[in-house]
Amino acid sequence: MRPLPLERHPHLLVGTETADDAGVYQISDQMALVQTVDFITPIVDDPFLFGQIAATNALSDVYAMGGKPLTAMNIVGYPRRSLDISILTEILRGGLAKVHEAGAVLLGGHTVEDAELKYGLSVTGTVHPQKIITNRRAREGDVLILTKPLGVGIISTANKAQMAEDRIFQGAVDSMVRLNGTASQDMAEYGVHACTDITGFGLLGHASGMAKGSGLSFRFFYPRIPILAGAREYAARGMVPGGAYCNEEFFSREISISPKVPESERIILFDPQTSGGLLMALPSSAGEEFLRRLKEKGISEASLIGEVIRKQKYLITVE
Ligand code: CO
Ligand code: CO
Ligand code: CO
Repeated sequence: MRPLPLERHPHLLVGTETADDAGVYQISDQMALVQTVDFITPIVDDPFLFGQIAATNALSDVYAMGGKPLTAMNIVGYPRRSLDISILTEILRGGLAKVHEAGAVLLGGHTVEDAELKYGLSVTGTVHPQKIITNRRAREGDVLILTKPLGVGIISTANKAQMAEDRIFQGAVDSMVRLNGTASQDMAEYGVHACTDITGFGLLGHASGMAKGSGLSFRFFYPRIPILAGAREYAARGMVPGGAYCNEEFFSREISISPKVPESERIILFDPQTSGGLLMALPSSAGEEFLRRLKEKGISEASLIGEVIRKQKYLITVE
């Protein structure tokens, strides 16, 4: 978006200036629209499952802003000469299942011929204008909660190489098809100051954006960071997506990782996630209680992984 001039409008509450998860446009004193679009290439073979993952991923940006999904539209790039149309039907069925689970309505969509299959959704949600949660309002002293374990990029890479055990792969899939709606529901009640979902830039990439936007630094405690079963082992065996190394190269200048973190595991912190969890900054007084609430709701992997500190030499330290 860099080459485009910034949009300015009295009703535009969140635009392109902060690289936030979604745009927000106020339509009344009580209501603002949250709008986002996201599409991906297949990361699993099963078309229904791919549809579910792509839709869960697209809906996530609305949840990351504190919004509630209202409507969605399909976006499809399809190689119709090489793939039977029944496959597309399954993908769309998977996506629709997640749109419905989110309580939203599918309004339509658009398909173009494409050499490579792509699927995703544009999603519109609503949020009260006073309850928008951006990625730039973390405060010093806040604690940081992550709601899903890391490692889906690594495990998907192992799966593509037919090296992933079924049990391990299933763990990654279960995580990718879990909507972030349940985790985001009570954010306002617990005074969450800032939130973003962890996707292509990995935990440390998205955390860097949040720390920088807030003008502060983050300190993470490595042993508390949830990691999917199998991800450590696969990373140690080199089954790491190229994007993880790109992220590491791009972000590592402003990150300090303790030598206590095993060498082979550092890359997990940069692993690009599809449909990853929410990273939230909230007052430390509410942290433990919010974590308990998340676990009661079945978000068992949620963990309090760090804290927000005064701006340091490094945007992020991992201890
Ligand atoms: Co996002
Ligand atoms: Co997105
Ligand atoms: Co059309």
